[in-house]
Amino acid sequence: MLNSRQIVRASYNKIASEYEATRKHDSEDVQLLRKLLERLSRNSTVLDAGSGSGYPVTQFLALHFQVTAIDFALEQIRLAKDRVRGVEFVCADMKPGGLALLCTGAGDLPRDKSRYHGVPMFWSHFDRETNLRMIRDTGLRILWSKTIVDPTNPTSAHLFVFAQKRE
Ligand SMILES: C[S@@+](CC[C@H](N)C(=O)[O-])C[C@H]1O[C@@H](n2cnc3c(N)ncnc32)[C@H](O)[C@@H]1O
Repeated sequence: MLNSRQIVRASYNKIASEYEATRKHDSEDVQLLRKLLERLSRNSTVLDAGSGSGYPVTQFLALHFQVTAIDFALEQIRLAKDRVRGVEFVCADMKPGGLALLCTGAGDLPRDKSRYHGVPMFWSHFDRETNLRMIRDTGLRILWSKTIVDPTNPTSAHLFVFAQKRE
């Protein structure tokens, strides 16, 4: 028996063209994309998650931005590659359970300007507990965290956090 993810993927593979025929370039949801133009500069990097056949959303985004588009239905990606140029298409499952190894600052440092390897540098980061809370608030589950001395600068340290997207 197929699980829910397999049903969605198999069904979008089957109905890719039919679904696309129901999409309109001027429907209300597509008009909403114009809001991005007010906030993002031209050629900003945008992820189109669940991009479908690329019409009309990826196509609109590609006119203004650098787009990476991801969809787990191969037929959708195949159509999209035909429809839209200049986009990086990825056929993959955005499933829960994905892992991230994050490197953050380890201490409260609102702003610090100093010389680093002979050049001016700027640092700004939160303390360990604030970083962990913000990571949890994004919906990631923290598997472990560890503070490690910066091998390039032994007077400072980084917090490494191994986290997983919740199921
Ligand atoms: C409702 S369609 C939207 C397509 C397009 N964005 C649009 O506006 O017409 C949803 C798309 O998300 C894809 N999708 C659903 N779950 C996914 C997952 N876990 N990983 C990758 N793609 C997924 C489906 O294959 C489908 O093409």
